[in-house]
Amino acid sequence: MQNFKGIRIVGTGHYAPDNVVTNDDLSKIVDTNDEWISSRTGIRRRHHVTTEKNQDLAVAAAKMALENAGIDKSELGVCICATVRADNLTPSMACMVQSILELPGNMPCFDINAACSGFMYGIEVARGLLMQSDKKYGLVIGSETLSKILDMTDRGTCILFGDGAGAAVIELSDNNYYSVLGSKGDDKVLQCPNEQGDRYVNMLGSDVFKFAVSTVPKTIFELLDKAGVAVDDIDLFVCHQANLRIIESVAKKCKQSLDKFYVNLDEYGNTSSASIPIALSELNQKGLLKPGMKIICVGFGGGLTWGGAYIEW
Ligand code: UT7
Repeated sequence: MQNFKGIRIVGTGHYAPDNVVTNDDLSKIVDTNDEWISSRTGIRRRHHVTTEKNQDLAVAAAKMALENAGIDKSELGVCICATVRADNLTPSMACMVQSILELPGNMPCFDINAACSGFMYGIEVARGLLMQSDKKYGLVIGSETLSKILDMTDRGTCILFGDGAGAAVIELSDNNYYSVLGSKGDDKVLQCPNEQGDRYVNMLGSDVFKFAVSTVPKTIFELLDKAGVAVDDIDLFVCHQANLRIIESVAKKCKQSLDKFYVNLDEYGNTSSASIPIALSELNQKGLLKPGMKIICVGFGGGLTWGGAYIEW
């Protein structure tokens, strides 16, 4: 059993396939245009796999996170991969990452699906398992190849999503850390059936939008309450990258400058469970994360689910 209840992130990594699909590319497939997509969503490009499997993305992001953390792999106590669409029903993506990166055998490795909130769920599950373990590090990955489940004739969804993976190595620590997770079972607003011929993402876009602009600020205020911190004291907000207008609305509701909200959806589109860890990894790579920074991350998505964390860097 461990004494610490909080976590800190000690390493980050991300990966996106080389193949870039621009708004202009999509306008040749469906009735849309760059002006509509960029003004309604903020998205300009996204990356789609060609030959890569989902596990290839997960492995690349995990490898970078482990190198960035500089830890001895034998000190890992759990590996979790959040994904909506694993390559196989079994073995799990996490087990394949374990195999390919030769991670220790004496730890739990498994996938979770909480849609776009998956990475935040993963962090909290990993924290809980580490508290019962004698190992102090956990590897949490969010990895998606949503392009494989997009209806490329549906302009309401095919323009939004991209492929990518992000990963973080977490360490149990005495840092302040608080989490909020939730769900509201609903199969109307956002769904992707697993049936042949009907296995595409479909959603009621404006309903998801309304859900997001109310749930994300609510989650932020719950986290602030738990942490006993004022909203002005937060240095950085990393929200799920679904739509710039959602992030703008959240910033406004929190009375915060948009500058405090990291945005990279112009480059990746919505990468579901990968969007928050990709953002954290980019921030880390750019040297924008300083010790002691107070960060709030919030994801939301299918389920419907939501999940957020207050983290000190
Ligand atoms: O990870 C969580 C998953 N999803 C989300 O977070 C999505 C949240 N929702 C959204 O981001 C927005 O609702 C969308 C970007 C999906 C749609 O934006 P909107 O402002 O809510 O547009 P809308 O669905 O109300 O559609 C407005 C119009 C419609 O035409 P009419 O009926 O007014 O003639 C649509 O048919 O825009 C049309 N439209 C398009 N036009 C050009 C919808 N998609 C497109 C498109 N290009 N790609």
